[in-house]
Amino acid sequence: MTSLEITSEIHENKCPSVNQSSQKNHVTEFKFQLPPYLVGKDEIEYDSDGDLILNREKEGTLLIEHSISTKLELVGLQVWRGSLLLADYILSNQKIFENKKILELGSGVGLTSIVASFLADQVICTDINLEGILQLIQRNFDRNSKFIRSKFNVMELNFLQTNWPSDVQEKFDESSIVLAADVIYDDDITRGFIETLKKLLHSKSSTKTIYVSLEKRYVFTVANLDSVAPMYEEFLRIINQQKLPWIIEYLPLDFPQYFHYDRVDQMILMKIKRK
Ligand SMILES: C[S@@+](CC[C@H](N)C(=O)[O-])C[C@H]1O[C@@H](n2cnc3c(N)ncnc32)[C@H](O)[C@@H]1O
Repeated sequence: MTSLEITSEIHENKCPSVNQSSQKNHVTEFKFQLPPYLVGKDEIEYDSDGDLILNREKEGTLLIEHSISTKLELVGLQVWRGSLLLADYILSNQKIFENKKILELGSGVGLTSIVASFLADQVICTDINLEGILQLIQRNFDRNSKFIRSKFNVMELNFLQTNWPSDVQEKFDESSIVLAADVIYDDDITRGFIETLKKLLHSKSSTKTIYVSLEKRYVFTVANLDSVAPMYEEFLRIINQQKLPWIIEYLPLDFPQYFHYDRVDQMILMKIKRK
């Protein structure tokens, strides 16, 4: 394991609203435009004639506890751009996510799951159980309870251990939508992620739709004498090599941006279904 410290682009540019909550973790205000369907009663304003104005540009604030920099094996304690891209997609597509049972993989600090829980019937938010990450997710859910409408569970799902007990398998089988943001960045994890998707997509009568966001991180390799996005390419290579019967659709990134981040060209949002 490397001892190199890594910082998400989100935290490099976003320190003004950071409050120190403990020596290690910070609580940052992630502001977002409230979509019209979330503008609730307490957001209603009146003009000088007493007529009701729905301020459709009103901002909400999520309070998210996270680390600012970590070693590679603890990157889940930070917030990555893929989670905000996926959160934007959810907020832009109320009909797809409303009243659904949703499972998130590699949730990190839980931001995307929290946004999904504005609309869903149930959200299962999962990650590996390292350095108290599952408890941190639970604290983030508690901090943002005023927005949360769904039932939610926080539980462990490790891509490298997919021999789930039958009650856990049943719980995962209930979900019709699976989310994963920025989990394709390491050989073993990428292979484990594909095994996890295979299990989820190929369990009995599964009609799940998987949404995967990622940021192609280019690296220069001597072997290719070029800049390549190795993990993303490895992900596609394994799918082809194993002839997995999956339909991968690349979603256009022209949906509204509710959160504040750079939606850079290297970002991708895939929709995966079984043929
Ligand atoms: C780059 S972070 C992304 C976190 C979050 N989805 C986001 O976009 O902010 C990668 C995530 O994959 C998780 N992860 C790493 N290894 C894993 C494994 N074996 N099983 C499940 N999740 C894993 C990490 O804990 C981390 O939450």
